[in-house]
Amino acid sequence: MTDKKVTLTLDSNESAVDLNVLKGTLGQDVVDVRGLGSHGVFTFDPGFTSTASCESKITYIDGEEGILLHRGFPIAELATKSDYLEVCYILLNGEVPTAEQYQQFKTQVTRHTMIHEQITRLFHGFRRDSHPMAVMCGVTGALAAFYHDSMDVNNPRHREIAAFRLLSKMPTVAAMCYKYSIGQPFVYPRNDLSYAGNFLHMMFATPCEEYKINPVLERAMDRILILHADHEQNASTSTVRTAGSSGANPFACIAAGIASLWGPAHGGANEATLHMLEEISSVEHIPEFVRRAKDKNDSFRLMGFGHRVYKNYDPRATVMRETCHEVLEELGMKDDLLEVAMQLEHIALNDPYFIERKLYPNVDFYSGLILKAMGIPTSMFTVIFAMARTVGWISHWIEMHEEGMKIARPRQLYTGYTERKFESKR
Ligand code: CMC
Repeated sequence: MTDKKVTLTLDSNESAVDLNVLKGTLGQDVVDVRGLGSHGVFTFDPGFTSTASCESKITYIDGEEGILLHRGFPIAELATKSDYLEVCYILLNGEVPTAEQYQQFKTQVTRHTMIHEQITRLFHGFRRDSHPMAVMCGVTGALAAFYHDSMDVNNPRHREIAAFRLLSKMPTVAAMCYKYSIGQPFVYPRNDLSYAGNFLHMMFATPCEEYKINPVLERAMDRILILHADHEQNASTSTVRTAGSSGANPFACIAAGIASLWGPAHGGANEATLHMLEEISSVEHIPEFVRRAKDKNDSFRLMGFGHRVYKNYDPRATVMRETCHEVLEELGMKDDLLEVAMQLEHIALNDPYFIERKLYPNVDFYSGLILKAMGIPTSMFTVIFAMARTVGWISHWIEMHEEGMKIARPRQLYTGYTERKFESKR
């Protein structure tokens, strides 16, 4: 808390209400409005544009400066000097692991990558042409039916077991979604591989052909996972917290997060970006799409541009851009869509509409191009985002339980009918 107070005068007859101002270690001060309801008013903030929904120690974003810190560590340093499992450890535990702690953590994760064999039958209940996000959402929720031995959310050990299960099994579920959609047999995980390497193996190996993991692609996949690992109180993380605030089981909470992530304004933007680049298809069509994005009578938006918090270049996009060039070079690919993406970025960044609104490329602008170059179909992009974000969701879910929580129960500004008499029209 600070010494500062905000004084609110409701009307001239009422005495003033003093509201405390809370101070974090970084970022804006926060006016504590918790007591306001007892004075007969609520605050109104649809979309939470000015509302902190919780206190957290996990991730900090300075949107004006384009800064993203996980437990205090800058994202660019984590993406270039660490690996995904180390970042997972940091997000979950708050500190950098020692060599021994890292090894133990890795062993725990890699020893739980298999999923109950009966789950394979669950997959067969889905239509082959289902979107993999629909399948992932369903299967993740269904894990609660298989791993119900440790679902006491008030027990720290149970929460830890659930965390390891989710972290370990998510790549297996994600790869199974892909294999099912193309009619290939599921490939079992291999515990001797890295987290990213094992995922690529389960995606691309077949019983008749060995899949050799390209270390550049393995590193690129690891980077994509790091860059998507957490992003403080975004829509899906807030969904996980809201679902968890009722005491719901962890698998149900993560399934809720996956459902929220799927939307094109959030994690679905990577898939939407690639569709958009394909639709633009060549540099000369860019001005027409930019014109449409600026037209208020057209619902079209430039996908992969803009962010609720970043009013500067998304720091994740900077690393993603570099990785994109590395991957295309390694694969010896010249992608016309990369050319379209770079030109689009250039044109948008110099257009007054985008400058005035501070619309910059976000993480999803380049990730789709990398995944496409790796041979991953567009429909799997958001699945990979969900797999990477699972650690962020769990970290917030655990933090919320450790700190103690109230059930999330927003109020509303009611604008419907006043009370009226019911008369049946049947
Ligand atoms: N293209 C064209 N105009 C845009 C765009 C865009 N991509 N994004 C925002 N604007 C305009 C918007 O029309 C509005 O203009 P005006 O003030 O004249 O009405 C202004 O910029 C502010 O937009 P907003 O919708 O009020 O901003 P928001 O904070 O509610 O939305 C957003 C943020 C990310 C949903 C939005 O920028 C967007 O739809 N971007 C495209 C989808 C996308 O790339 N999403 C991925 C986000 S990063 C990954 C993740 O976190 O999941």
